[in-house]
Amino acid sequence: MKFVKKDFLWGGATSASQVEGAYDVDGKSLTIADMRPFNPNLDRKSVSELNAYTREDYEKSIENKEGLHYPKRFGVDQYHRYKEDIALFKEAGMNIYRMSIAWSRIFPNGDEAEPNKSAIEFYRSVFQECKDAGMEVMLTIQHYDVPYPITKEYGGWSNKKVVDLFIKFSTVIMNEYKDLVKYWLPFNEINIATLSPVTGLGVFKEDFKTEEEYKNAAWQGLHNQFYAQAKVIEIAKTISSNIEMGCMVANMTTYYSDCNPVNVMENLKFQQMERYFYYDVMIKGKYPTYSERYFEEHNIKFETTPEEMNVIKNNPIHYITFSYYMTSTISKELLEKAGGNLLMGGKNPFLKATEWGWQIDPIGLRVTLNELWDRYEIPLFISENGIGVVETLDSNNTVEDDYRIDYLSEHFKQMNEAILDGVNVFGYTMWTPIDVVSLSTNEMSKRYGLIFVDYDDYHKGTGDRFKKKSFNWFKKFRETGEL
Ligand code: BG6
Repeated sequence: MKFVKKDFLWGGATSASQVEGAYDVDGKSLTIADMRPFNPNLDRKSVSELNAYTREDYEKSIENKEGLHYPKRFGVDQYHRYKEDIALFKEAGMNIYRMSIAWSRIFPNGDEAEPNKSAIEFYRSVFQECKDAGMEVMLTIQHYDVPYPITKEYGGWSNKKVVDLFIKFSTVIMNEYKDLVKYWLPFNEINIATLSPVTGLGVFKEDFKTEEEYKNAAWQGLHNQFYAQAKVIEIAKTISSNIEMGCMVANMTTYYSDCNPVNVMENLKFQQMERYFYYDVMIKGKYPTYSERYFEEHNIKFETTPEEMNVIKNNPIHYITFSYYMTSTISKELLEKAGGNLLMGGKNPFLKATEWGWQIDPIGLRVTLNELWDRYEIPLFISENGIGVVETLDSNNTVEDDYRIDYLSEHFKQMNEAILDGVNVFGYTMWTPIDVVSLSTNEMSKRYGLIFVDYDDYHKGTGDRFKKKSFNWFKKFRETGEL
């Protein structure tokens, strides 16, 4: 089968805290990502690792008297090896690289009067390298790496002062890079805010007296991000018409577990609040009516001003991007068991899952694309999709990752079907073109890349890069368009 769209962006995605390393270079501050240790006893199927540490644990990591390993301080050393990586991405046939920029390098404390010049020049060189390699850049402004000084001083995103710091940071980088970076995403997976407030907002549970206050702080943080994003879009219009602003949502497509109308209804409610809610706010520019009932019933309170709501209304995103790894199922029984806090959803007997319990569902991607297009009719972009597997180099210094080739090609085929259905999808960046440190479990051994990186979970190894079988498969696909 030939992929139908010729004019399409094909590439890969990473994030600063998962690839860069160089955590102590040029005045960079520590981020919350740099401060969560590797847990050798982790349960791969559990989602609790993201929320398992207290503010005290984070504080202790600064002196690190226990000698723990903090994988995101080292990443895969892309800070020093970006030229080599970009050359490999070019060779694979990528025409776009989605990456993120570290706030902690540009404004280490968040509130400096001037940005860090050497960090500004560092990213300029990276973007220029991409341009020279014929690649567009899609830049995430904040990807799970709130600088720790901002959480310490201001308590993270629930404080409206952080909005101003973020707007200043975003304005500086848009002015600096407007000619080198076309696609911008203010926040990675904006919906993580209420699921893991420390990860998305730098908000710590220990700073609140009650669960209720903590929950409301997370919703306040989310609202502040909605507003900050809209404000950045407003400012972008005054900076350059080259800037295209999108959003990024961790897409949570779920199916009802059976045709019992009770479960159909539960799934509808789940889809409204866990998926559509985010797009609705960022595209329709207001809090949807179904959310008002949800806030009331869950006693959720946060402060909005008419001025903020006006900015949100007048500055919708230009396109949607989302991450898509899996689907799951929803039933009343399951929701009751999980106490409403469901990140992974229920099992689907028709799907296989990875070692981490992520259920692989290429057709669900076509479903998702159709649903989003029908509802919003703005261009769509898949900004993350891929499969994490434990891998080692074989005697030929490669990895025969046929499962990854299957995973990617099945998703590409469904994307193709969606395009034939009439959906406007304009690009795809796989997670990831190169092995990186895992976001949730902090492992290096959970590998997603077309390129193998010789580091283990403790950052031991040469760091050298090796092409997997999927690298050559992707390269050929880019040359022929054949699936
Ligand atoms: C997305 C994140 O949620 O999933 C990435 O945006 C992350 O940062 C990716 O790496 C895969 O998750 P994990 O936990 O397997 O690295």
